Amino acid sequence: MEIDNLIKKLSETHSLSLSEYEYLIENRTEEAAKILREKAVKIRREIYGNTVFVRGLIEISNICKNDCLYCGIRKSNAHCDRYRLTPEEILECAREGYSLGFRTFVLQGGEDAYFTDEVLCDIIRSIKQNHKGCAVTLSMGERSYESYKRLFDAGADRYLLRHETADKEHYEKLHPKEMSFDNRMECLKNLREIGYQVGCGFMVGSPYQTNKSLAKDLKFIEEFKPDMCGIGPFVPHKETPFAKEEQGTVELTCYLLSIIRLIYPQVLLPSTTALGTIHPMGREMGIEAGANVVMPNLSPVSVRKKYELYNGKICTGEESAQCKDCLNQRMRSIGYEIVVDRGDIKIG
Ligand code: 5AD
Ligand code: FES
Repeated sequence: MEIDNLIKKLSETHSLSLSEYEYLIENRTEEAAKILREKAVKIRREIYGNTVFVRGLIEISNICKNDCLYCGIRKSNAHCDRYRLTPEEILECAREGYSLGFRTFVLQGGEDAYFTDEVLCDIIRSIKQNHKGCAVTLSMGERSYESYKRLFDAGADRYLLRHETADKEHYEKLHPKEMSFDNRMECLKNLREIGYQVGCGFMVGSPYQTNKSLAKDLKFIEEFKPDMCGIGPFVPHKETPFAKEEQGTVELTCYLLSIIRLIYPQVLLPSTTALGTIHPMGREMGIEAGANVVMPNLSPVSVRKKYELYNGKICTGEESAQCKDCLNQRMRSIGYEIVVDRGDIKIG
């Protein structure tokens, strides 16, 4: 089938076969990207208008027991200057964020044993109590069903856990043998079952990624229908085994953002910091490809450089207010308005 027909089929049925997704990626042209972008923006506009949701990101710890080969805060990186925010510091970030208008907080961190269910539940309850009507999103890696359930019962609304790749063999090339693809997928299912709004996602251009593995990511998104989907380019970090690998491209990331918007028109799709890192206009380009969420950094400036998942990460020197204003302005410059509400997915 010709690429134009595939795009037509995708935008009408929101579904393609694995080999069709692969073909769409393999045979992409500038022209195809443009058509996809236009269709993605049109359908996003019908659902969300010209609004972009903001979530305040609080990076609570860079201590991690895992050793993902791509990640700058992997446990084997002895050069990583480790930190952990205290519960008081986290609540202070949320307070500052609230006064800046944020109504969603994303607590993200490595898999740090300090953050037991008890500690996290207290933090979640305090944020929900102090700031009525706010949503709390967690991004703290793999935990047990019971743990996810406790955090949900304490008031957490959403959970982000990127699946990283939907191809098991590929997953095993990105992670040490202690980590399991099946467990990752199990975690996503558990989160959904418990009642969270769930986010998955993957890196674009990670080592050993193929068009076939990307096709599997798209099929997985089509079938799992995550409420949120975080995708950004892989960017090498010099203290990891992937230091010498090539980074992902803006072009392919934006192409995939458009496809994902067409697969699931309602999905909450961030234009990521990684995209802004590899191109000065990366986040604007992501929005113009179909994304509808941005995540300014609310972490204390003193720790920002330390949460270095990849080299060159932007937004590490700015105060929270500056980061928010910067994104406001960037979105305005391309005709979008940031909205400060919980930013729930619009279903139906
Ligand atoms: N480049 C881009 N993204 C990365 N992540 C981790 N390391 C890198 C890197 N080197 C992403 C992973 C993880 C998320 C928090 O950050 O997808 O899930
Ligand atoms: Fe953070 Fe521009 S968005 S400084």
